[in-house]
Amino acid sequence: MSMAKRLEGKVAIVTGGASGIGEATVRLFVQNGAKVIIADVQDELGQKVCQDIGPPEDISYMHCDVTDESDVQTTVDTAISKHGNLDIMFANAGIAGARNRQGIIGTDYEDLKRVFETNVFGAFLCAKHAARVMIPAKKGSIVFTSSVASVTYGDVPHTYVASKCAVVGLAKNLCIELGQYGIRVNCVSPFGIASPMLMNELDMGKSEVEEFVSEIATLKGEVVDANDVAEAVLFLGSGSSKYVSGQNLVIDGGYSLTNVALREAYKKMRVS
Ligand SMILES: NC(=O)c1ccc[n+]([C@@H]2O[C@H](COP(=O)([O-])OP(=O)(O)OC[C@H]3O[C@@H](n4cnc5c(N)ncnc54)[C@H](O)[C@@H]3O)[C@@H](O)[C@H]2O)c1
Repeated sequence: MSMAKRLEGKVAIVTGGASGIGEATVRLFVQNGAKVIIADVQDELGQKVCQDIGPPEDISYMHCDVTDESDVQTTVDTAISKHGNLDIMFANAGIAGARNRQGIIGTDYEDLKRVFETNVFGAFLCAKHAARVMIPAKKGSIVFTSSVASVTYGDVPHTYVASKCAVVGLAKNLCIELGQYGIRVNCVSPFGIASPMLMNELDMGKSEVEEFVSEIATLKGEVVDANDVAEAVLFLGSGSSKYVSGQNLVIDGGYSLTNVALREAYKKMRVS
């Protein structure tokens, strides 16, 4: 079956595009006719992904540490000099931070700073430099990767949760400022995706992570993966979502909508 190319003639930057959700999105974007620049700090892996996807006119890699403003500035300027414009900024690079099971008292300042520098300051810098070139063009779509941790609380370290909530706040506020220029701003908030990040975090292999995530999932019969997020980013980046802005698109199969405490209590009391 031939599928219409939904990003024909569009130019995208994908931060964190060398791995996981970013990589899956890069693949889907190129399949859909976009010219993509992967902006990441894993140089070897990023180059390998480019060679694997090809051709070099459509996909290239740039070393870009999103915590470094001059790196972000150069990456955006390269998109313009190489491809003429920037239609989509997928600000997706992120880190999990320390596995803090000690709560707020155990919060390490250096870890907090590192997580915010990448997840929040990085998102700001990507938005700032994307807006710089999108405003004069009077079009564009900015998509951030937040997390299911922006809509359900308690079991993930404060640093990560706060960083991902900050991203949602930024997206919603930006949606107002940039709406006047025809620029849309949205977030995707994935559930557990068996990417290198989550595999490290849980200290499990890919299939173990998938099994674990499926076990706690609300929606059964499907195993969520990076492509499910990529499809949502394709929607938000393309004209299919031309009037969608300021949304946090949660891709969690309904996980965040419930609270299992009552069900667990019923089970304990053997009430059905
Ligand atoms: N995997 C999950 O379960 C999950 C769930 C919700 C949200 N997220 C978010 O999704 C995004 C992508 O994560 P992933 O799961 O694909 O993990 P991943 O580790 O596979 O990919 C993240 C990529 O970001 C890059 N990166 C990290 N710091 C960077 C920096 N300073 N500058 C540029 N690139 C940098 C890494 O090199 C890596 O290639 C992150 O923002 C993460 O917080 C992941």
